Amino acid sequence: MLRALDLQDSNAGVWCARDGWSQDPAAPSIESIDPTTGQPLASVRCATAADYERLLRSANEIFTLWRQVPAPRRGEAIRLIGQILRENKSALGSLVSLETGKIKPEGDGEVQEMIDIADFAVGQSRMLYGSSMHSERPQHRMYEQWHPLGTVGIISAFNFPVAVWSWNAFLAAICGDVCVWKPSPKAPLCAIAVQKLVNQALAAAGFPGIFQLLVSADEALATRLVEDRRVDLVSFTGSTEVGRKVGERVAARLGRSLLELGGNNAIVVDQHANLDLAVPAIVFGAVGTAGQRCTSTRRVFVHASRAPELERRLLQAYRQVQIGDPLQTGTLMGPLIDAAAVERYRQAIESAQRAGGTLLCGGGTRGPGYFVEPAIVLARNEWEIVQTETFGPILYLIRYDTLEQAIEMHNSVRHGLSSAIFTDKLQHAEQFLSAVGSDCGIANVNIGTSGAEIGGAFGGEKDTGGGRESGSDSWKAYMRRQTNTINWSRELPLAQGIDFNA
Ligand code: UN1
Repeated sequence: MLRALDLQDSNAGVWCARDGWSQDPAAPSIESIDPTTGQPLASVRCATAADYERLLRSANEIFTLWRQVPAPRRGEAIRLIGQILRENKSALGSLVSLETGKIKPEGDGEVQEMIDIADFAVGQSRMLYGSSMHSERPQHRMYEQWHPLGTVGIISAFNFPVAVWSWNAFLAAICGDVCVWKPSPKAPLCAIAVQKLVNQALAAAGFPGIFQLLVSADEALATRLVEDRRVDLVSFTGSTEVGRKVGERVAARLGRSLLELGGNNAIVVDQHANLDLAVPAIVFGAVGTAGQRCTSTRRVFVHASRAPELERRLLQAYRQVQIGDPLQTGTLMGPLIDAAAVERYRQAIESAQRAGGTLLCGGGTRGPGYFVEPAIVLARNEWEIVQTETFGPILYLIRYDTLEQAIEMHNSVRHGLSSAIFTDKLQHAEQFLSAVGSDCGIANVNIGTSGAEIGGAFGGEKDTGGGRESGSDSWKAYMRRQTNTINWSRELPLAQGIDFNA
């Protein structure tokens, strides 16, 4: 599998259009760890400060050329990348599974998400529309156009090591930008594999160098990227804690940031819910990717009348969850990413129990590797631990009596990413989606909180950071807007009717 992606001949995590893969033997290195065994998979050479400088210069230079390529031709380059991803879907999906511990179908699904956004970006490359306005002055024309922005820094997380990069990179590219990618140091091999595939496609397209790679675990280098005025947009995916610092630092230089932070996502199961839909949706949302999606379901608000039935059916479903090697057919849940994640999971369960929670199932941990059992806890919404996003398979079950009460509890957390209601009652669905309903960026009816399609804008409010990526008009974040007024008359009338004749 690694051979298929041609990783064996390279352990360098820096790819710069100017020099290719970094050769600096003095560069620091990191190890990629297999979370299933806890053993190293490979050692990867990281970027030095000199690499960073080379990369930024080359990105800025290439931008001056790339911005002049017509957008539909930029789309053609992304079409070729989509093609090469299709051809390598299974191998890359397996690598994602190996390095992050998500099961193979989810690894493949992540590559499919890249292919989907590639297709979307190709179409969008012919639709970078601006509006035209009617001027208040005679023989004047007003319109707006969207221009390429510049260099985009993409900092991605381990849990979606390749798809989130592609949401940003493919749209940024068709918008005429050049990208510098700092992937999670926990998943450097996935990034190297993607860079290799992308390089092949871009060489065929005749546009090498619009995507560059910077693997680093050095906080100082990450800070440099965030504070660098030559980086026009910093797109950050990760924790609220780090995202807040990124947002503040970028704002301090009046740069642009796109923040895609955590979630404390919930599903409401009302008295009219179809549990045949709700139960598998909750299990996928809470157990899928071992609870390590920003969209993972962390809380369920269940109407008191349905609580015993839902608890029974969830417990039954959780008993079927096969935990083990994520590459093995039949496994439903792989390991967490590392030992620190297991520790956070253990502590969260302890805190919930200390607060008075009842552990209905799970709570155990097992090695070697970073395996935990998915847990369900009967809880109260106001407990600090329930208010906290713990990146693992812990589901808090909370009962309610009225929908207003459920919505109130639903919204009273710091995050605002994804949400859902299961109901067959139209009024309840509409209330949940209304201005007095869910306060999240994503609100669903009769589907779960995770597994969004790429066609919609993805992101959320409050501590989720406010950014929107992927579909709809998210492409606008990667461009600069210009308003143009053209006077084709022989007069110079001023707006607002001002008379200024000297
Ligand atoms: C993330 O967890 O950072 O909606 C992204 C989903 C996926 C993307 C998750 N399409 O669950």
